[in-house]
Amino acid sequence: MAERDPGLLACTKPSNPHDSAALHVSGLARYADDLPEPAAMLHLAFGQSKEAHARITAIDLAAVRAAPGVVAVYTAADISGANDVSPVAGDDRLLADGEVICVGQPIFLVAATSQRAARQAARLGEIAYEPLPAHLTIADARAAASLIEPTQRMARGDAAAALAQAPHRLTGGFDMGGQDHFYLEGQVAIATPGEDGQMHVLSSTQHPSEVQHLVAHMLCRRSADVTVEVRRMGGAFGGKETQAALFAAAAALVADKTGRPAKFRCDRDDDMVMTGKRHDFRVDYETGFDAQGRVLALKLRLASRCGATVDLSPAINDRAMFHADNCYHLPAIEIISERLKTHTVSATAFRGFGGPQGMLAIERIMDDVAAHLGIDPIDVRIANLYGPGRDVTPYDMQLTDNIAPQLIARLRADARYDARRQAIAAFNARNPVLKKGIALTPVKFGISFTTTHLNQAGALVHVYADGSIQINHGGTEMGQGLYIKVAQVVADVFAVPVGQVRITATRTDKVPNTSATAASSGADLNGMAAYNAAMTIRDRLTAFAARSFGCGEKAVRFSDGAVQIGTEWMGFGDLCRKAHMGRISLSSTGYYATPDIAYDRAAHKGRPFYYFAYGAAVAEVAIDTLTGEHRVLAVDILHDVGKSLNPVIDIGQIEGGFLQGQGWLTTEELVWDDKGRLLTHSPATYKIPTASDRPRHLSIQLWDGENVQPTINRSKAVGEPPFMLAISVFSALHQAIAAVAPDKRALPPLDAPATPERILRAIADHRAA
Ligand code: MTE
Ligand code: MOS
Repeated sequence: MAERDPGLLACTKPSNPHDSAALHVSGLARYADDLPEPAAMLHLAFGQSKEAHARITAIDLAAVRAAPGVVAVYTAADISGANDVSPVAGDDRLLADGEVICVGQPIFLVAATSQRAARQAARLGEIAYEPLPAHLTIADARAAASLIEPTQRMARGDAAAALAQAPHRLTGGFDMGGQDHFYLEGQVAIATPGEDGQMHVLSSTQHPSEVQHLVAHMLCRRSADVTVEVRRMGGAFGGKETQAALFAAAAALVADKTGRPAKFRCDRDDDMVMTGKRHDFRVDYETGFDAQGRVLALKLRLASRCGATVDLSPAINDRAMFHADNCYHLPAIEIISERLKTHTVSATAFRGFGGPQGMLAIERIMDDVAAHLGIDPIDVRIANLYGPGRDVTPYDMQLTDNIAPQLIARLRADARYDARRQAIAAFNARNPVLKKGIALTPVKFGISFTTTHLNQAGALVHVYADGSIQINHGGTEMGQGLYIKVAQVVADVFAVPVGQVRITATRTDKVPNTSATAASSGADLNGMAAYNAAMTIRDRLTAFAARSFGCGEKAVRFSDGAVQIGTEWMGFGDLCRKAHMGRISLSSTGYYATPDIAYDRAAHKGRPFYYFAYGAAVAEVAIDTLTGEHRVLAVDILHDVGKSLNPVIDIGQIEGGFLQGQGWLTTEELVWDDKGRLLTHSPATYKIPTASDRPRHLSIQLWDGENVQPTINRSKAVGEPPFMLAISVFSALHQAIAAVAPDKRALPPLDAPATPERILRAIADHRAA
């Protein structure tokens, strides 16, 4: 690297690198597909639906069965237990049963001696369909009143009355696209049958316990008969929270039927077609405000395309509503959230879990209000911030940790927002072709699963008699650095170097009944569970040492790999050996459940979140008004991770999250044809950001603070919140486009993602407006 990352320079606290960093870069980290394959291993592929919505009238698989290398072929009729791979609603089939509800839906499953043989054979299935009417878009589904659940309403005050009285009013709307997860490691699972009906499944999943339960139900076994293991995922981003179950269940079905190990490594194009993505949204709003841009009333309609099944769409759309306030106090508000059912692949969790969509809506409204008043959008944002006496959210939660005003002020000064905005105005006045824009947008992201019971975790810590430590917990590692954070927590409890802690794969036979590693809560929940387990052992060691040496427990101190006991010193390993000889248990479970949260979903009121993570970003962009191309020139981020558990990992999460958000809002475009077929199903047509899209100037600073809640080390969750910092890019693009007609009191009509085509169209429409 030619240039040192300024963000890294800013970080002074010591950080352990990712525990697998060296293995990742040397290729020695073992992902599921890297493990040696036993000779008997079978490889799998699905025969997929070509129709978006149809009744299946006949299935002819003779040619599939006769194809070279094929060992077995299964349809829904071969599943003895539950034909279900869904998280909540029971409506996701492993194999279609009589009807298909989206293109790419699995209809039959081929097991062959190689992956190639399985894929080639899968193409030979003859399926006869009787097409049924298909709703493909938000507009189609709305016209047909096709919903996955009743439309939800979150409201406070009388928005209609407040609108009528407001001195200024505007209406607007826009569309935002979905997003493919594009994890580097695709979906993969290996099932190995054991003796007496047991099944081991190695799965690239964020949710081992759910895979365990689904496989058990499908095979008519009990949870205790099925073990799911995950050492690491090569990225997940929410795309392996529910979507991994399909592949794991397929592998388990084949392993159970044939008695042979079975691997499903999904091809990239198939993966993109068959697995769920971020929800695309249509947003419509009507807002009333005063001359300073303070929002007095807001009616907001959020409509999302949920796809063919329920999946996690209710919670995802709830989270969109929860984040439609972002950092702003909205005194009279009505949010209507429509969850539309379409005949497209079921949309699923994706970093931010609906939060980005809700937040983009309100940030767009801030920009729209500013454009109508002809004032700097930052002034509108600041006028609307939560503050003393205006600190209750639309869902009736009191904010007790609001640092947005200070954080924004600091970033505004550090990034020289005002001077740069002036310089950009001068640049735009001189340049007819290139136009620049700058924007500062904040983030406030609620931390906790909004489904309250999911906020629990377990851990298992073993201390061996030589003083080495094994740690296991319910969280999964997807590159986010959860394992090293939790290992550090345990190492700190015993005051030993983190290298003394062996991190082990997540397994359902070590820690049961776990929640998905999601909602950014991995370190909060599992870190605390591991801390509790380690403290139990440390307390036993302390009591033993005090007893053995005849001193008080207060005289026992763990420090620097050693233990002080009264006036004696002893190595940590020596004390462990002695304790073992003294018949002291050196193994413990630990458990944690987030306190103080409760939410009434029927009323959409309560305290769904334990706390909020904050951040803000300044983005500067340039557009070419002749081609519609743009470049993100400079980004300055100030982000709140509380008291960081690991600054280098946290900065990596902030950078990665930001860039993934930038991709969502600029280059990543999903295109379906009018038959419901995804056209952008490979990296040739679907453009994630590359290294050259990373802004040349990217400064990442951590806010110097600590969580007001007693989380582990007073840290804050970091996995998802930084994704939404990229809204600053979208906002800056609006400013750049607006510069083509600077006197217009209107916001350019730009949809997301801001591809060159959309930017050109917005320029033309803005000029014509
Ligand atoms: N970082 C990497 N490198 N890879 C990932 O797949 N997933 C994100 C985020 N950061 C992800 C990531 C998502 S969607 C979530 S919810 C969190 O990590 C989950 O991990 P955590 O709870 O431990 O932060
Ligand atoms: Mo993250 S979308 O909660 O897996």
